[in-house]
Amino acid sequence: MAAQIRTIDQLDLAGKRVFIRVDFNVPLDEKGRVTDDARIRAALPTIRHAIGKKARVILASHLGRPKGDPSDKEKFSLEPAAQRLSELLGIDVILADDCIGDGVKKAVADLPEGKVLLLENLRFHKGEEANEESFCRELASLADVWVNDAFGTAHRAHASTAGMARFVKEKAGGFLIQKEVEYLGRVLAKPERPFVAILGGAKVSDKIKVLENLIGKADSVLIGGAMAYTFLAAKGVPVGKSRVEQDKLELARKILDQAKAKGVDFELPVDHVCATEPKETAERVVVNAQAIPDGLMGLDIGPKTLDRYRQRILAAKTVFWNGPMGLFEQKPWAEGTFGVAKAMAESPAITVVGGGDSAAAVEEAGLVDRMKHVSTGGGASLEFIEGRELPGVKILEE
Ligand code: 3PG
Repeated sequence: MAAQIRTIDQLDLAGKRVFIRVDFNVPLDEKGRVTDDARIRAALPTIRHAIGKKARVILASHLGRPKGDPSDKEKFSLEPAAQRLSELLGIDVILADDCIGDGVKKAVADLPEGKVLLLENLRFHKGEEANEESFCRELASLADVWVNDAFGTAHRAHASTAGMARFVKEKAGGFLIQKEVEYLGRVLAKPERPFVAILGGAKVSDKIKVLENLIGKADSVLIGGAMAYTFLAAKGVPVGKSRVEQDKLELARKILDQAKAKGVDFELPVDHVCATEPKETAERVVVNAQAIPDGLMGLDIGPKTLDRYRQRILAAKTVFWNGPMGLFEQKPWAEGTFGVAKAMAESPAITVVGGGDSAAAVEEAGLVDRMKHVSTGGGASLEFIEGRELPGVKILEE
C-alpha cells in the first residue's frame, strides 16, 4: 500500500499559479472529436477545486506519441480536449500554442485568478519523455504549486509527471490520483474476502506479473480472453485453432503450479463461444465442453463459464477485473465481457475495474456508476497491481 500523499485540498491555492498535470490522452475520431471523455471528466473534481479556491489554473497533458515532433499539430493538438473541458466546466478554457517559451510565460502572467489555461501537448518537446532537466525547469518556472492528477501516466518518469517536482516550492496529488491509489491499494493490501480477480486479454505474457502478484493474494482467479487458450493448451486440453502463445506454454504451466501450491481457485473456461474465424459475420458456435474441436477457435467464454464466474463475483467481497473475456469489440463475442461487467454491477463487493479495455466495456454498458472504482489508467493500473512503484505517485510520497 502506498504511503499517504498530500492532496491538493491541504494547500492554500489562492492567487497561486497551480500547475496541474492531467491525463487528457483521450481517443479522437477521424474528425478530431473526443470519443471517450472519461479521463477529462475524472479530472474535474481537482480542476473545479482549484478554480473554486481562486488559483490561476495551468493544465498540462500529453496526447498520443508525437515523440518530440510538433509538425503534426492537426493530429496531436490538445484542442479537442480543451473544447470538451470548456463544455464540461461551462467556462472558457484558453489553449496555449505551446507548453514552454515566452508566449506561454506571458499567457501565465496574464492569467486571472479562477481562470484555466491548458498548455499544448507536452510531447511536442523531446525533453518531456527524456525528463530533461532544462525542460523540467522550464515547466517548473510556470508554477508555484505542482499537482499531479495524471494517474494514467503515473507509470512514466517524465518531466511533467515526476521530474519538475524537484524545482517547485510545493507539490500535491489531485483527487483522482488519491482515489486511484486508495482503491487499487485496497485491492492489493487489505482486500475483504473472498477476493476474486478476473483477468482476460489476449496474452499471458502481458499479464504475467499481475498473475504472479494476484495468485498470492486472491482467493479465486478467473481467466478469460485468448490467454485462457494458452492455459488450456498448457494443460493438454485441445483448443482447435484458438490463438495460443506457443512460446508461453511453459510459463503458463508454472503459473498453474503456483496457483495449485497456494491453494488458489484458478478457473479456466469450461465452455466456449467459437467460430471458424474471428469475424463478426462468422457463424457463432457454442461449444458445450472444455475441449474445442479442430477447425474452430474460441472467441468468448461460454454461458456455463459465465454462470460460474458470475456466482463467484456475486459471492465476493472484493473484485478486481482487468482484460476482456473475448473479442468484445464484435457483438457475437461480447456476451462474456458484458456479462462479467453486469455481474460486478450487481455484486455487493468492492468492485475495481483496472482500466483499458475492461473500463471501455463498463463505460459502453453504462455501468460505470455501479462500480466502486473504474481506473483511468491502463498501463498504470496494471503496473500498480503488479506491485511496482509508479514514479508519478512515488514523487508525491517523498
Ligand atoms: C495511457 O493512455 O496509457 C497514458 O496516457 C500513457 O500514455 P503512453 O503509453 O503513451 O505513455
